Amino acid sequence: MNIQNTDKMKPGEARSAGPTMAEIIARDPNQPPKELLAQAYEFMGDDDIPYDRYTSKEFFDLEVEKMWPKVWQWVCRLEHIPEVGDNYVYDVGPYSILVVRHGDGPEDIKAYHNSCLHRGTQLKPSYSSGNSPKLRCPFHGWEWNLDGSVSEIPCRWDFPKVTDEEFALPEVRVEIWGGFVFINMDPDAAPLEDYLEVLPAHFANWPLEDRYITLHVQKILPCNWKAAQEAFTEAYHVKETHAHLVPYCSGENAQYDVFGDNVTRFHHPFVHPDPSWTAPQTEQELLDACGMGPEGAELPEGMSARAYVAQHLREAIGGAVGVDLSHVSETEMLDSIEYHLFPNMFLFPGISLPMIYRFRPNGMDTDTAIFDLIFLGLKAPGQETPEPPEPYWLGVDDSYTTVPELGDMLGPVYDQDTSNLDMQQKGFKASVAKPGQTLGNYQEIRLRRIDATLHKYLDA
Ligand code: FES
Ligand SMILES: [Fe+2]
Repeated sequence: MNIQNTDKMKPGEARSAGPTMAEIIARDPNQPPKELLAQAYEFMGDDDIPYDRYTSKEFFDLEVEKMWPKVWQWVCRLEHIPEVGDNYVYDVGPYSILVVRHGDGPEDIKAYHNSCLHRGTQLKPSYSSGNSPKLRCPFHGWEWNLDGSVSEIPCRWDFPKVTDEEFALPEVRVEIWGGFVFINMDPDAAPLEDYLEVLPAHFANWPLEDRYITLHVQKILPCNWKAAQEAFTEAYHVKETHAHLVPYCSGENAQYDVFGDNVTRFHHPFVHPDPSWTAPQTEQELLDACGMGPEGAELPEGMSARAYVAQHLREAIGGAVGVDLSHVSETEMLDSIEYHLFPNMFLFPGISLPMIYRFRPNGMDTDTAIFDLIFLGLKAPGQETPEPPEPYWLGVDDSYTTVPELGDMLGPVYDQDTSNLDMQQKGFKASVAKPGQTLGNYQEIRLRRIDATLHKYLDA
């Protein structure tokens, strides 16, 4: 049933023309896990959201003081630190956290503030990773064991007040989930499992610990970190920003869910035209347009393009990896299924679009952000985890099309996604007559939820 906007509806009840995501899924003989059938939308008000949250130094400083030190954030994958002595530095705003593997056990991982207890020098450089048997400060050589205990203090005779007990490295909370190492700087924070809300139950269907990094791209974006991530929280922009996708990617039929303060989702169909694409299109033409099937493929009589492409990808991806995908639903094979974990992590459990995103401030700059884009490939059962590839680092003006692995399908799409951000950040500041943004009640609900959760921390 199509729910059109009528005068009788309450705000937030209206939906686009065309089938809902649930109706598209219902046509699939391979039904997905029940978690993909869940729906969780509630109207959250329609007040404008002020632009100064993206532009004001005071707002940025408040996030630094009250939000970043209180939330769970992922640092790296377990495969970044497989050997004893491996370390990985996570920088966010002024904070720098050093994650270290100190033993062979699966959870023998500790995290420290990346700052020497002598005169503050970073123990490891920002944004670095490496291996060292001890943690030695490059300035005067104070040194700690991997478990944080004091190893050596040169000229110790000069520091009678320094005791081993008081000068062990202060620890930051660490927990592991889905193959990701998470930290929280707040010693009193609730456990990660509580913070993750529905994610453990939903991702029981898609164990990310069994996947591995096939590609990692880091890019500086010319806008506040929140504007950068919000560009990825809705499919409303597809029509305008990715106009070439409209014949086979239905941004307007996406489903939006808010599962709690920390977790939201969108789910939008591929190999399905947007309602704004009114040109008559046969299933064969849809297959040709989407470019996701084999070149020149002819659709068997009576088969939908979605069913055909899903089957093609089951065979192509399953065959290449050595896993049986015959039972996997069309929506998991084809669609953009995107969860967000507050404050800055996106997880895509789908098979053909298996991404992880992270957005964070670039140092203390209100106006730029760092975007980590990772692809998590499937592993065959029992397959060793390959070493993670070196990240590509792209500057503000570098194109995603320079990353060969993104190909000419995804490279241009990421360029389109990031091409509006400079103008948006400038436009926030130029909006003298209107102090805030006006959000769609349904399609932009995730942005509103993320803002409300941010204020939970800032207003505490
Ligand atoms: S600052 Fe680290 S040893 Fe002096
Ligand atoms: Fe996009």
